[in-house]
Amino acid sequence: KPLLLIDTDPGVDDALAILMAHEHADVLGLSIAAGNVGLSHTVRNARTLVDLVGASTPVFAGCPAPLVRLPEEDAAFVHGRDGLGDVGFPEPGSRIDDEHAALALLRLTREHPGEITLVALAPLTNLALALKLDPSLPQRVKRLVVMGGAVTGHGNTGRVPAEFNVGFDPEAAHVVFEGFPEFDLVDWELTLRHAFDEADFDQWLAQGDRRAAFFGRAFQVARETNRRSGRRGIIAADALAMAVAIDPSVVVRSERRHVGVELDGRLTRGATVVDWQGRLKRPAQANVVLELDQPRFAAMVRRALGADGAA
Ligand code: BDR
Ligand code: CA
Repeated sequence: KPLLLIDTDPGVDDALAILMAHEHADVLGLSIAAGNVGLSHTVRNARTLVDLVGASTPVFAGCPAPLVRLPEEDAAFVHGRDGLGDVGFPEPGSRIDDEHAALALLRLTREHPGEITLVALAPLTNLALALKLDPSLPQRVKRLVVMGGAVTGHGNTGRVPAEFNVGFDPEAAHVVFEGFPEFDLVDWELTLRHAFDEADFDQWLAQGDRRAAFFGRAFQVARETNRRSGRRGIIAADALAMAVAIDPSVVVRSERRHVGVELDGRLTRGATVVDWQGRLKRPAQANVVLELDQPRFAAMVRRALGADGAA
């Protein structure tokens, strides 16, 4: 089983990814970022998920805001004001660790050198801070999988080509993309190509266990937002990144390219720029994931909802 350390801002697709991780991997900890909603909500939601899966996974609170500029938007309109669909889940019982997320990332990678797959499902603020504190961090990590970016400019934020995680804290993404010599990049456009059929997904929710019941409720607001924006199918960006983290062989097609982050730009701040033709002569640090094995991805999600029997 892979050993995962997850940086996350739950968030409903983060929630699904966290369920997948606890089903298919060993989870060393959840380091929490601000992003989809504010840090107090994302920390509480992480604890709610730890309670739900009955684990003792430590939850480390991280940075409450991006490294440099205040964000222009959050994603409460997708995830609900509380980040989990405004269902009003009860106050969780699991505790918050008192170590800062960035310090926990450094300590845990020292305790498990070469063993940890880091999974970044949020704005990259905590990871960037950890890297600035200790630039040798990448040498101790087995793999880094990042959910972020929109590799041909079809973003999902007010800045047209920017994807949310990179657009929320572009400086942090820049630090991480420059600091890690190699990582897998699961971008927003891949998410759109790997939607689940709504009827299939409803069947998994109906046949699953308490995790499916929870997710069905938490996901309602996001589902309606997606429908209103004219999207068909069930999309869950962070679940794709988690699938790649759990089992890299789920990747059917990918390309190694240099990826940079636009830090200025009147219309483009927060955009990911992929050097598809190698013009910049910069190291191709990103393994840009272009296609997943959809049936295997679906099977991983189904099992994480306790709906293994469903087709
Ligand atoms: C990413 O942004 C967040 O809203 C999701 O949780 C995901 O991590 C998709 O752009
Ligand atoms: Ca997320």
